[in-house]
Amino acid sequence: MALYLPTLSDGPVTVRPVRVRDARALERELLDNRAWLRQWEATNPNGPSGFDTRGSIRALLANSRAGHGMPFIIEYEGQLAGQLNVSSISYGSLSSATIGYWVSERFAGKNATPTAVALVTDHCFFTVGLHRMEICIRPENKPSLRVVEKLGFRYEGLRRRYIHINGDWRDHFCFALVVEEVRQGVLRRWKDGAVPALVAQRPEVDVRAAEHPLPVIK
Ligand SMILES: CC(C)(COP(=O)(O)OP(=O)(O)OC[C@H]1O[C@@H](n2cnc3c(N)ncnc32)[C@H](O)[C@@H]1OP(=O)(O)O)[C@@H](O)C(=O)NCCC(=O)NCCS
Repeated sequence: MALYLPTLSDGPVTVRPVRVRDARALERELLDNRAWLRQWEATNPNGPSGFDTRGSIRALLANSRAGHGMPFIIEYEGQLAGQLNVSSISYGSLSSATIGYWVSERFAGKNATPTAVALVTDHCFFTVGLHRMEICIRPENKPSLRVVEKLGFRYEGLRRRYIHINGDWRDHFCFALVVEEVRQGVLRRWKDGAVPALVAQRPEVDVRAAEHPLPVIK
């Protein structure tokens, strides 16, 4: 089932479907922001993979045609600012998906990402009909933790060595929303100042645990 990819806007922020012709501009942003992005980038556990922006856009679009993902560009005042990908979409009794994102350093701190996440989450809930949206973040990633705090994604737990990032398996804090929590919509709730306090807060026991790597047997 191919997924319809909408264009969604709020103020200076637009999310729109990625296109193959974005490859050149996207590659420039990715290269110019290497130092900014590398620490948080998903990597291949089976060794280095080449830098092929056109190929990865094609793979994202094929995944979307198969109904498994929704690849978006984040624009700020009409300029390409970053990417937001909905992935691992499952239907039926799970009806769930995961969100990942980045913006270039020069667009940081302008609420581009929380706005994009709110727009896309609302689309997934109220148009696609998904039930649960998840975001997983490395414990060290304070700016990204602010994104889920602002929008009131609820803390669900610590997943040890969960995603291969920047060359190794990394712990992640996981957050989620189910549609019943946000009947008014994620964007509306945030704009109305109605996000419940502390739902994204991590308990001390998980914060402490994440400070100590899981012992691994070689
Ligand atoms: C995490 C990230 C997507 C946040 O996007 P954003 O659009 O800047 O989000 P916000 O505008 O809500 O800013 C979030 C926090 O970043 C911090 N921040 C603001 N400007 C910043 C800057 N120039 N540099 C670093 N951090 C900054 C602030 O703490 C801000 O919180 P505040 O608004 O309460 O002050 C972005 O920092 C990024 O792309 N980082 C690199 C890739 C990455 O971490 N991806 C996410 C992996 S889970």
